Amino acid sequence: MTADTKSALGSAEHKASSEKVREMKLNGHVGFDSLPDQLVNKSVSQGFSFNILCIGETGLGKSTLLDTLFNTTFDSTPATHDLPGVKLKSNTYELKESNVNLKLTIIETVGYGDQINKEDSFKAIVDYIDAQFENFLQEEMKIKRSIHSFHDTRIHTCLYFIAPTGHSLKAIDLVCMKKLDSKVNIIPVIAKADCIAKNELHKFKIKIMSELVSNGVQIYQFPTDDETVADINATMNSHIPFAVVGSNDFVKVGSKQMRAREYPWGTVQVENETHCDFVKLREMLIRTNMEDLREQTHTRHYELYRRCRLAEMGFEDSEINITEVWEQNRQELDVLQAQEDDMRQKFVQRVKEKESELKDAEKQLHAKFDNLKKQHADEKKSLEEKRRQLEEELNAFNRRKQMLEQNNSSSSSITGKKKK
Ligand code: GTP
Ligand code: MG
Repeated sequence: MTADTKSALGSAEHKASSEKVREMKLNGHVGFDSLPDQLVNKSVSQGFSFNILCIGETGLGKSTLLDTLFNTTFDSTPATHDLPGVKLKSNTYELKESNVNLKLTIIETVGYGDQINKEDSFKAIVDYIDAQFENFLQEEMKIKRSIHSFHDTRIHTCLYFIAPTGHSLKAIDLVCMKKLDSKVNIIPVIAKADCIAKNELHKFKIKIMSELVSNGVQIYQFPTDDETVADINATMNSHIPFAVVGSNDFVKVGSKQMRAREYPWGTVQVENETHCDFVKLREMLIRTNMEDLREQTHTRHYELYRRCRLAEMGFEDSEINITEVWEQNRQELDVLQAQEDDMRQKFVQRVKEKESELKDAEKQLHAKFDNLKKQHADEKKSLEEKRRQLEEELNAFNRRKQMLEQNNSSSSSITGKKKK
Protein backbone atom coordinates (compact mmCIF):
# COMPACT_ATOMS: atom_id res chain seq x y z
CA MET A 1 0.00 0.00 0.00
CA THR A 2 1.45 3.39 -0.94
CA ALA A 3 1.73 6.32 1.47
CA ASP A 4 -0.88 8.22 -0.56
CA THR A 5 -3.52 5.50 -0.44
CA LYS A 6 -2.82 5.05 3.27
CA SER A 7 -3.39 8.72 4.00
CA ALA A 8 -6.51 8.74 1.78
CA LEU A 9 -7.94 5.80 3.69
CA GLY A 10 -7.00 7.42 6.99
CA SER A 11 -8.86 10.60 6.20
CA ALA A 12 -11.92 8.61 5.00
CA GLU A 13 -11.98 6.72 8.31
CA HIS A 14 -11.65 9.97 10.20
CA LYS A 15 -14.57 11.46 8.23
CA ALA A 16 -16.77 8.43 8.85
CA SER A 17 -16.15 8.48 12.60
CA SER A 18 -16.79 12.21 12.90
CA GLU A 19 -20.02 11.95 10.89
CA LYS A 20 -23.17 12.36 13.00
CA VAL A 21 -25.53 9.39 12.86
CA ARG A 22 -29.07 10.56 12.19
CA GLU A 23 -31.90 9.25 14.33
CA MET A 24 -34.92 8.17 12.30
CA LYS A 25 -38.51 7.71 13.45
CA LEU A 26 -40.48 4.76 12.09
CA ASN A 27 -43.99 5.36 10.82
CA GLY A 28 -45.22 1.97 11.92
CA HIS A 29 -44.20 -1.44 13.33
CA VAL A 30 -41.36 -3.01 11.31
CA GLY A 31 -40.53 -5.98 13.53
CA PHE A 32 -36.86 -5.84 14.47
CA ASP A 33 -37.92 -5.52 18.11
CA SER A 34 -38.20 -9.32 17.94
CA LEU A 35 -34.41 -9.53 17.70
CA PRO A 36 -33.91 -10.26 21.45
CA ASP A 37 -36.53 -13.06 21.21
CA GLN A 38 -34.73 -14.49 18.19
CA LEU A 39 -31.51 -14.49 20.19
CA VAL A 40 -33.18 -16.21 23.15
CA ASN A 41 -34.78 -18.87 20.90
CA LYS A 42 -31.49 -19.54 19.17
CA SER A 43 -29.61 -19.90 22.47
CA VAL A 44 -32.29 -22.15 23.94
CA SER A 45 -32.25 -24.45 20.93
CA GLN A 46 -28.43 -24.67 21.09
CA GLY A 47 -28.43 -25.43 24.81
CA PHE A 48 -25.88 -24.26 27.36
CA SER A 49 -22.80 -25.67 28.98
CA PHE A 50 -21.63 -24.88 32.49
CA ASN A 51 -18.54 -26.25 34.16
CA ILE A 52 -17.93 -26.13 37.90
CA LEU A 53 -14.62 -26.93 39.52
CA CYS A 54 -14.74 -27.87 43.23
CA ILE A 55 -11.48 -27.55 45.10
CA GLY A 56 -11.31 -28.68 48.68
CA GLU A 57 -9.71 -31.10 51.08
CA THR A 58 -10.86 -34.71 51.04
CA GLY A 59 -14.21 -35.17 52.78
CA LEU A 60 -15.04 -31.47 53.05
CA GLY A 61 -18.49 -31.95 51.52
CA LYS A 62 -17.87 -31.11 47.83
CA SER A 63 -20.02 -33.89 46.36
CA THR A 64 -22.79 -33.37 48.90
CA LEU A 65 -22.95 -29.63 48.18
CA LEU A 66 -23.24 -30.20 44.43
CA ASP A 67 -26.02 -32.75 44.96
CA THR A 68 -27.73 -30.14 47.12
CA LEU A 69 -27.22 -27.32 44.61
CA PHE A 70 -28.74 -29.22 41.69
CA ASN A 71 -31.17 -31.19 43.85
CA THR A 72 -30.09 -34.53 42.47
CA THR A 73 -27.57 -37.27 43.19
CA PHE A 74 -24.49 -37.16 40.99
CA ASP A 75 -21.99 -40.03 40.74
CA SER A 76 -19.41 -39.85 43.51
CA THR A 77 -17.13 -42.14 45.39
CA PRO A 78 -15.38 -40.94 48.53
CA ALA A 79 -11.63 -40.53 48.12
CA THR A 80 -9.00 -42.02 50.42
CA HIS A 81 -6.49 -39.87 52.27
CA ASP A 82 -3.37 -41.71 51.08
CA LEU A 83 -2.97 -40.56 47.48
CA PRO A 84 0.57 -39.47 46.54
CA GLY A 85 -0.67 -36.44 44.56
CA VAL A 86 -3.67 -34.31 43.65
CA LYS A 87 -5.88 -35.50 40.80
CA LEU A 88 -9.02 -34.19 39.16
CA LYS A 89 -12.17 -36.19 38.52
CA SER A 90 -14.62 -34.94 35.93
CA ASN A 91 -18.17 -36.00 35.12
CA THR A 92 -20.55 -34.52 32.56
CA TYR A 93 -24.34 -34.62 32.83
CA GLU A 94 -27.17 -33.54 30.56
CA LEU A 95 -29.81 -31.71 32.65
CA LYS A 96 -33.13 -30.30 31.56
CA GLU A 97 -35.27 -27.74 33.33
CA SER A 98 -38.45 -26.49 31.57
CA ASN A 99 -37.24 -26.49 27.95
CA VAL A 100 -33.64 -25.46 28.74
CA ASN A 101 -30.91 -28.03 28.24
CA LEU A 102 -27.77 -27.71 30.33
CA LYS A 103 -24.62 -29.72 29.79
CA LEU A 104 -23.10 -29.61 33.26
CA THR A 105 -19.54 -30.73 33.94
CA ILE A 106 -18.48 -31.16 37.53
CA ILE A 107 -14.80 -31.45 38.30
CA GLU A 108 -13.71 -32.35 41.81
CA THR A 109 -10.24 -32.50 43.30
CA VAL A 110 -9.19 -35.89 44.65
CA GLY A 111 -6.57 -36.12 47.37
CA TYR A 112 -6.26 -32.34 47.79
CA GLY A 113 -4.40 -31.38 50.97
CA ASP A 114 -3.50 -34.97 51.89
CA GLN A 115 0.20 -34.88 51.03
CA ILE A 116 2.93 -33.97 53.52
CA ASN A 117 4.50 -31.68 50.95
CA LYS A 118 1.66 -29.54 49.63
CA GLU A 119 3.88 -27.24 47.57
CA ASP A 120 2.70 -28.50 44.18
CA SER A 121 -0.94 -29.20 45.06
CA PHE A 122 -2.14 -26.40 42.77
CA LYS A 123 -0.18 -27.66 39.74
CA ALA A 124 -2.60 -30.36 38.62
CA ILE A 125 -5.44 -27.84 38.87
CA VAL A 126 -3.64 -25.11 36.90
CA ASP A 127 -2.69 -27.64 34.22
CA TYR A 128 -6.28 -28.83 33.95
CA ILE A 129 -7.67 -25.30 33.56
CA ASP A 130 -5.03 -24.43 30.94
CA ALA A 131 -5.70 -27.65 29.05
CA GLN A 132 -9.36 -26.68 28.66
CA PHE A 133 -8.39 -23.20 27.40
CA GLU A 134 -5.95 -24.79 24.98
CA ASN A 135 -8.61 -27.15 23.59
CA PHE A 136 -10.87 -24.17 22.93
CA LEU A 137 -8.04 -22.15 21.36
CA GLN A 138 -7.10 -25.04 19.06
CA GLU A 139 -10.73 -25.35 17.97
CA GLU A 140 -10.92 -21.60 17.30
CA MET A 141 -7.75 -21.68 15.23
CA LYS A 142 -8.93 -24.50 12.98
CA ILE A 143 -9.69 -23.46 9.41
CA LYS A 144 -12.93 -25.41 9.61
CA ARG A 145 -14.29 -24.50 13.04
CA SER A 146 -17.36 -25.86 14.74
CA ILE A 147 -17.46 -23.69 17.85
CA HIS A 148 -21.24 -24.08 18.29
CA SER A 149 -21.18 -27.87 18.43
CA PHE A 150 -17.83 -27.95 20.27
CA HIS A 151 -18.11 -29.11 23.88
CA ASP A 152 -16.71 -26.12 25.73
CA THR A 153 -15.03 -27.49 28.86
CA ARG A 154 -13.52 -24.23 30.09
CA ILE A 155 -14.10 -23.82 33.82
CA HIS A 156 -16.77 -21.19 34.45
CA THR A 157 -16.51 -21.15 38.19
CA CYS A 158 -14.37 -22.57 40.93
CA LEU A 159 -16.01 -23.25 44.29
CA TYR A 160 -13.12 -23.14 46.75
CA PHE A 161 -14.04 -25.08 49.91
CA ILE A 162 -12.50 -23.61 53.06
CA ALA A 163 -12.28 -25.88 56.09
CA PRO A 164 -14.48 -24.65 58.98
CA THR A 165 -11.57 -24.11 61.35
CA GLY A 166 -12.87 -20.76 62.59
CA HIS A 167 -9.25 -19.68 62.58
CA SER A 168 -7.82 -18.45 59.30
CA LEU A 169 -7.00 -19.65 55.81
CA LYS A 170 -4.36 -22.34 55.43
CA ALA A 171 -1.22 -21.71 53.38
CA ILE A 172 -2.42 -24.16 50.72
CA ASP A 173 -5.66 -22.13 50.34
CA LEU A 174 -3.84 -18.85 49.77
CA VAL A 175 -1.21 -20.30 47.44
CA CYS A 176 -3.77 -22.15 45.34
CA MET A 177 -6.25 -19.28 45.07
CA LYS A 178 -3.42 -16.89 44.17
CA LYS A 179 -2.32 -19.21 41.34
CA LEU A 180 -5.85 -19.51 40.03
CA ASP A 181 -7.31 -16.04 40.34
CA SER A 182 -6.29 -14.94 36.85
CA LYS A 183 -7.57 -18.16 35.29
CA VAL A 184 -10.97 -18.76 36.81
CA ASN A 185 -13.84 -17.11 38.69
CA ILE A 186 -13.21 -18.11 42.29
CA ILE A 187 -16.12 -18.24 44.72
CA PRO A 188 -14.85 -19.16 48.18
CA VAL A 189 -17.24 -21.06 50.45
CA ILE A 190 -16.92 -22.12 54.07
CA ALA A 191 -17.72 -25.82 53.99
CA LYS A 192 -19.66 -27.66 56.72
CA ALA A 193 -20.62 -24.32 58.19
CA ASP A 194 -22.85 -26.09 60.72
CA CYS A 195 -19.60 -26.88 62.58
CA ILE A 196 -19.01 -23.22 63.51
CA ALA A 197 -20.85 -21.13 66.05
CA LYS A 198 -22.69 -18.04 64.78
CA ASN A 199 -20.44 -15.39 66.37
CA GLU A 200 -17.28 -17.26 65.33
CA LEU A 201 -18.55 -17.54 61.77
CA HIS A 202 -18.87 -13.78 61.42
CA LYS A 203 -15.30 -13.22 62.65
CA PHE A 204 -14.06 -16.08 60.46
CA LYS A 205 -15.58 -14.50 57.34
CA ILE A 206 -13.96 -11.13 58.11
CA LYS A 207 -10.61 -12.82 58.73
CA ILE A 208 -10.78 -14.77 55.47
CA MET A 209 -11.62 -11.68 53.43
CA SER A 210 -8.85 -9.62 55.02
CA GLU A 211 -6.33 -12.39 54.35
CA LEU A 212 -7.43 -12.62 50.73
CA VAL A 213 -7.12 -8.85 50.31
CA SER A 214 -3.74 -8.61 52.02
CA ASN A 215 -2.38 -11.43 49.83
CA GLY A 216 -3.75 -9.83 46.67
CA VAL A 217 -6.06 -12.74 45.82
CA GLN A 218 -8.81 -11.62 43.44
CA ILE A 219 -12.04 -13.50 43.93
CA TYR A 220 -15.11 -13.26 41.72
CA GLN A 221 -17.38 -10.29 42.46
CA PHE A 222 -21.03 -10.50 41.44
CA PRO A 223 -21.54 -7.77 38.82
CA THR A 224 -23.28 -4.56 39.80
CA ASP A 225 -23.46 -2.88 36.40
CA ASP A 226 -26.85 -4.33 35.44
CA GLU A 227 -29.36 -2.32 37.46
CA THR A 228 -31.91 -5.17 37.63
CA VAL A 229 -29.52 -7.22 39.77
CA ALA A 230 -27.15 -4.51 41.04
CA ASP A 231 -28.70 -4.27 44.52
CA ILE A 232 -28.98 -7.97 45.22
CA ASN A 233 -25.47 -8.62 43.83
CA ALA A 234 -23.95 -5.81 45.89
CA THR A 235 -25.59 -7.22 49.04
CA MET A 236 -24.42 -10.73 48.22
CA ASN A 237 -20.85 -9.57 47.61
CA SER A 238 -20.77 -8.57 51.26
CA HIS A 239 -21.76 -12.11 52.33
CA ILE A 240 -18.79 -13.78 50.61
CA PRO A 241 -17.44 -16.32 51.58
CA PHE A 242 -20.78 -18.10 51.78
CA ALA A 243 -21.08 -20.41 54.76
CA VAL A 244 -22.72 -23.49 53.29
CA VAL A 245 -24.20 -26.74 54.49
CA GLY A 246 -25.01 -29.67 52.23
CA SER A 247 -27.09 -32.74 52.85
CA ASN A 248 -28.55 -35.74 51.10
CA ASP A 249 -31.01 -36.40 53.95
CA PHE A 250 -34.53 -35.02 54.00
CA VAL A 251 -36.79 -34.03 56.90
CA LYS A 252 -40.38 -32.90 56.79
CA VAL A 253 -40.72 -29.16 57.39
CA GLY A 254 -44.39 -28.20 57.30
CA SER A 255 -45.79 -30.10 54.35
CA LYS A 256 -42.49 -30.15 52.40
CA GLN A 257 -39.54 -32.53 52.45
CA MET A 258 -36.44 -30.39 52.93
CA ARG A 259 -32.74 -31.21 52.85
CA ALA A 260 -31.41 -31.03 56.39
CA ARG A 261 -28.86 -32.43 58.83
CA GLU A 262 -30.22 -33.82 62.05
CA TYR A 263 -28.27 -33.63 65.29
CA PRO A 264 -29.10 -34.75 68.83
CA TRP A 265 -29.65 -31.09 69.71
CA GLY A 266 -31.63 -30.00 66.64
CA THR A 267 -31.91 -29.84 62.88
CA VAL A 268 -29.96 -27.71 60.39
CA GLN A 269 -32.14 -26.88 57.42
CA VAL A 270 -30.02 -26.37 54.34
CA GLU A 271 -32.45 -23.97 52.71
CA ASN A 272 -33.15 -21.95 55.83
CA GLU A 273 -31.33 -18.63 55.48
CA THR A 274 -31.01 -18.21 59.22
CA HIS A 275 -29.13 -21.53 59.37
CA CYS A 276 -26.64 -21.04 56.51
CA ASP A 277 -25.89 -19.21 53.23
CA PHE A 278 -26.73 -22.13 50.93
CA VAL A 279 -29.71 -20.37 49.34
CA LYS A 280 -27.60 -17.27 48.70
CA LEU A 281 -24.98 -19.36 46.92
CA ARG A 282 -27.57 -21.16 44.77
CA GLU A 283 -29.29 -17.88 43.94
CA MET A 284 -26.04 -16.20 42.90
CA LEU A 285 -24.41 -19.14 41.15
CA ILE A 286 -27.30 -20.65 39.26
CA ARG A 287 -30.21 -18.25 39.13
CA THR A 288 -28.67 -14.78 38.79
CA ASN A 289 -25.08 -14.88 37.58
CA MET A 290 -24.58 -18.06 35.61
CA GLU A 291 -24.36 -16.13 32.33
CA ASP A 292 -21.99 -13.56 33.81
CA LEU A 293 -19.70 -16.36 35.00
CA ARG A 294 -19.72 -17.84 31.48
CA GLU A 295 -19.08 -14.42 29.95
CA GLN A 296 -16.27 -13.52 32.37
CA THR A 297 -14.62 -16.82 31.60
CA HIS A 298 -14.64 -16.02 27.90
CA THR A 299 -13.87 -12.31 27.92
CA ARG A 300 -11.45 -12.13 30.84
CA HIS A 301 -9.76 -15.41 31.68
CA TYR A 302 -9.75 -17.05 28.26
CA GLU A 303 -8.77 -13.77 26.61
CA LEU A 304 -5.73 -13.50 28.89
CA TYR A 305 -4.74 -17.10 28.15
CA ARG A 306 -5.23 -16.54 24.41
CA ARG A 307 -3.16 -13.36 24.41
CA CYS A 308 -0.26 -15.07 26.20
CA ARG A 309 -0.39 -18.10 23.90
CA LEU A 310 -0.52 -15.94 20.75
CA ALA A 311 2.44 -13.93 22.06
CA GLU A 312 4.31 -17.23 22.51
CA MET A 313 3.47 -18.09 18.91
CA GLY A 314 4.98 -14.82 17.71
CA PHE A 315 1.91 -12.58 17.53
CA GLU A 316 3.48 -9.93 19.75
CA ASP A 317 1.93 -6.60 18.83
CA SER A 318 -1.56 -5.49 19.58
CA GLU A 319 -1.81 -4.48 15.89
CA ILE A 320 -0.74 -7.86 14.60
CA ASN A 321 -0.25 -8.40 10.94
CA ILE A 322 -1.05 -12.06 10.52
CA THR A 323 0.24 -12.16 6.93
CA GLU A 324 3.60 -10.73 8.01
CA VAL A 325 3.92 -13.13 10.92
CA TRP A 326 2.85 -15.99 8.70
CA GLU A 327 5.36 -14.98 6.01
CA GLN A 328 8.10 -14.67 8.66
CA ASN A 329 7.21 -18.07 10.11
CA ARG A 330 7.13 -19.55 6.60
CA GLN A 331 10.61 -18.17 5.83
CA GLU A 332 11.91 -19.56 9.11
CA LEU A 333 10.32 -22.89 8.21
CA ASP A 334 11.95 -22.79 4.75
CA VAL A 335 15.36 -22.18 6.33
CA LEU A 336 14.76 -25.04 8.77
CA GLN A 337 13.59 -27.27 5.91
CA ALA A 338 16.76 -26.47 3.89
CA GLN A 339 18.90 -27.22 6.95
CA GLU A 340 17.06 -30.50 7.43
CA ASP A 341 17.55 -31.48 3.76
CA ASP A 342 21.25 -30.60 3.97
CA MET A 343 21.68 -32.65 7.12
CA ARG A 344 19.83 -35.56 5.56
CA GLN A 345 22.07 -35.45 2.46
CA LYS A 346 25.21 -35.30 4.60
CA PHE A 347 23.92 -38.20 6.61
CA VAL A 348 23.24 -40.31 3.50
CA GLN A 349 26.72 -39.45 2.13
CA ARG A 350 28.34 -40.39 5.43
CA VAL A 351 26.45 -43.67 5.53
CA LYS A 352 27.58 -44.48 1.98
CA GLU A 353 31.22 -43.70 2.84
CA LYS A 354 31.04 -45.84 5.93
CA GLU A 355 29.46 -48.66 3.91
CA SER A 356 32.26 -48.65 1.31
CA GLU A 357 34.88 -48.46 4.13
CA LEU A 358 33.30 -51.52 5.71
CA LYS A 359 33.21 -53.33 2.35
CA ASP A 360 36.95 -52.67 1.81
CA ALA A 361 37.72 -53.90 5.29
CA GLU A 362 35.66 -57.01 4.60
CA LYS A 363 37.56 -57.65 1.34
CA GLN A 364 40.89 -57.27 3.12
CA LEU A 365 39.78 -59.66 5.80
CA HIS A 366 38.71 -62.21 3.20
CA ALA A 367 42.10 -61.93 1.42
CA LYS A 368 43.92 -62.29 4.73
CA PHE A 369 41.82 -65.30 5.57
CA ASP A 370 42.54 -66.96 2.16
CA ASN A 371 46.24 -66.26 2.61
CA LEU A 372 46.32 -67.77 6.06
CA LYS A 373 44.35 -70.77 4.81
CA LYS A 374 46.90 -71.30 2.03
CA GLN A 375 49.83 -70.90 4.45
CA HIS A 376 48.22 -73.37 6.77
CA ALA A 377 47.70 -75.90 3.92
CA ASP A 378 51.37 -75.53 2.79
CA GLU A 379 52.66 -75.96 6.32
CA LYS A 380 50.45 -79.00 6.76
CA LYS A 381 51.76 -80.45 3.50
CA SER A 382 55.45 -79.93 4.43
CA LEU A 383 54.84 -81.39 7.88
CA GLU A 384 53.20 -84.43 6.25
CA GLU A 385 56.27 -84.78 4.04
CA LYS A 386 58.63 -84.49 7.02
CA ARG A 387 56.57 -87.10 8.88
CA ARG A 388 56.71 -89.46 5.92
CA GLN A 389 60.50 -89.01 5.69
CA LEU A 390 60.91 -89.58 9.43
CA GLU A 391 58.76 -92.69 9.23
CA GLU A 392 60.89 -93.97 6.35
CA GLU A 393 64.09 -93.22 8.32
CA LEU A 394 62.61 -94.95 11.36
CA ASN A 395 61.69 -98.00 9.30
CA ALA A 396 65.20 -98.10 7.78
CA PHE A 397 66.70 -97.74 11.22
CA ASN A 398 64.53 -100.57 12.59
CA ARG A 399 65.44 -102.79 9.65
CA ARG A 400 69.14 -102.10 10.21
CA LYS A 401 68.78 -102.75 13.92
CA GLN A 402 67.05 -106.01 13.25
CA MET A 403 69.80 -107.06 10.84
CA LEU A 404 72.49 -106.17 13.36
CA GLU A 405 70.76 -108.10 16.07
CA GLN A 406 70.44 -111.12 13.76
CA ASN A 407 74.14 -110.84 12.86
CA ASN A 408 75.12 -110.61 16.53
CA SER A 409 73.16 -113.71 17.50
CA SER A 410 74.54 -115.87 14.57
CA SER A 411 78.18 -114.87 15.28
CA SER A 412 77.85 -115.70 19.02
CA SER A 413 76.54 -119.21 18.20
CA ILE A 414 79.48 -119.82 15.88
CA THR A 415 82.07 -118.83 18.58
CA GLY A 416 80.28 -121.15 21.05
CA LYS A 417 80.60 -124.12 18.75
CA LYS A 418 84.35 -123.41 18.12
CA LYS A 419 85.13 -123.34 21.90
CA LYS A 420 83.55 -126.75 22.29
P1 GTP B 1 -14.19 -36.57 48.69
O1 GTP B 1 -14.80 -36.57 47.36
O2 GTP B 1 -13.95 -37.92 49.25
O3 GTP B 1 -12.99 -35.69 48.80
O4 GTP B 1 -15.24 -35.94 49.73
P2 GTP B 1 -16.22 -34.73 49.47
O5 GTP B 1 -15.52 -33.45 49.68
O6 GTP B 1 -16.95 -34.92 48.21
O7 GTP B 1 -17.21 -34.91 50.71
P3 GTP B 1 -18.62 -35.65 50.73
O8 GTP B 1 -19.66 -34.83 50.09
O9 GTP B 1 -18.44 -37.03 50.28
O10 GTP B 1 -18.90 -35.61 52.30
C1 GTP B 1 -18.06 -36.22 53.24
C2 GTP B 1 -18.80 -36.35 54.57
O11 GTP B 1 -19.12 -35.06 55.07
C3 GTP B 1 -20.11 -37.10 54.47
O12 GTP B 1 -20.26 -37.88 55.61
C4 GTP B 1 -21.15 -36.01 54.44
O13 GTP B 1 -22.39 -36.41 54.99
C5 GTP B 1 -20.51 -34.95 55.32
N1 GTP B 1 -20.96 -33.62 54.97
C6 GTP B 1 -21.19 -33.15 53.74
N2 GTP B 1 -21.61 -31.88 53.81
C7 GTP B 1 -21.63 -31.54 55.13
C8 GTP B 1 -21.99 -30.37 55.84
O14 GTP B 1 -22.35 -29.35 55.28
N3 GTP B 1 -21.88 -30.40 57.21
C9 GTP B 1 -21.47 -31.51 57.87
N4 GTP B 1 -21.41 -31.44 59.19
N5 GTP B 1 -21.13 -32.62 57.23
C10 GTP B 1 -21.22 -32.66 55.88
MG1 MG C 1 -16.56 -36.19 46.55
